[in-house]
Amino acid sequence: MIKISDRLKSLVPYVESEDIVMDVGCDHALLDIYLVENNILNKMYVCDVNPNALQNGIDNIKKSGLEKKIIPILGYGIERSAEYNIDTLIISGMGSKNIISILESPNLNRVYKLILQSNNNHYELRKFLTQKSFNIAHEEIIKDGKKTYINIIAVHDMYPKTYTEKEYEFGPILIKDKKNINYFRDLLEEYEDLYFKSKNEQMHEKMEMLDEILDDLEAM
Ligand SMILES: C[S@@+](CC[C@H](N)C(=O)[O-])C[C@H]1O[C@@H](n2cnc3c(N)ncnc32)[C@H](O)[C@@H]1O
Repeated sequence: MIKISDRLKSLVPYVESEDIVMDVGCDHALLDIYLVENNILNKMYVCDVNPNALQNGIDNIKKSGLEKKIIPILGYGIERSAEYNIDTLIISGMGSKNIISILESPNLNRVYKLILQSNNNHYELRKFLTQKSFNIAHEEIIKDGKKTYINIIAVHDMYPKTYTEKEYEFGPILIKDKKNINYFRDLLEEYEDLYFKSKNEQMHEKMEMLDEILDDLEAM
């Protein structure tokens, strides 16, 4: 059985057996091998734009004997997702700009669930999701060495929510969960340092939002 990092494992609970899944930017395909080996999925699709990265995935899939169940596709983003009736996308381990460029496709209309893991620009990603009629269903902070990722699980909805600026910036679900209090305390310290050096007014606005979030979480 394949062993995967805690970062990749944190995505597993969001995958359901009936989902028709494509992992976009699969690279090594380790998460995908884990999902199939553990019978969470019977079959799935993995895609990468880089032939060397995809070959890395294909080699791992062959070593695990799962060639009939994990189908590799060379291509950019979700340009081929409609051919396979994909309704769930996993896009992990990259920045929000890249994730948004992958999702900027007419094929997104045929997708129901997005399992995203980004390490930056979460404000832009949440705004984009709302514009495309996706509501945020789950959020989770994932530490991986020096990097911090946020898992954002979004589902298509005819009635998309709009969020406050504070929610777009810091996460509508994250800011309501007391277990994130230390993450927000650390972020406030980081922003205070940056503000001290730059006197940037936007940074000051974010610090005020963080003060409010911390007051609410401390009162819980
Ligand atoms: C940093 S790796 C992440 C691998 C894996 N998803 C993970 O979480 O560990 C990013 C991968 O995404 C691929 N990628 C980047 N942009 C892509 C795109 N537009 N379409 C398909 N693959 C892409 C890269 O080639 C690379 O293999």
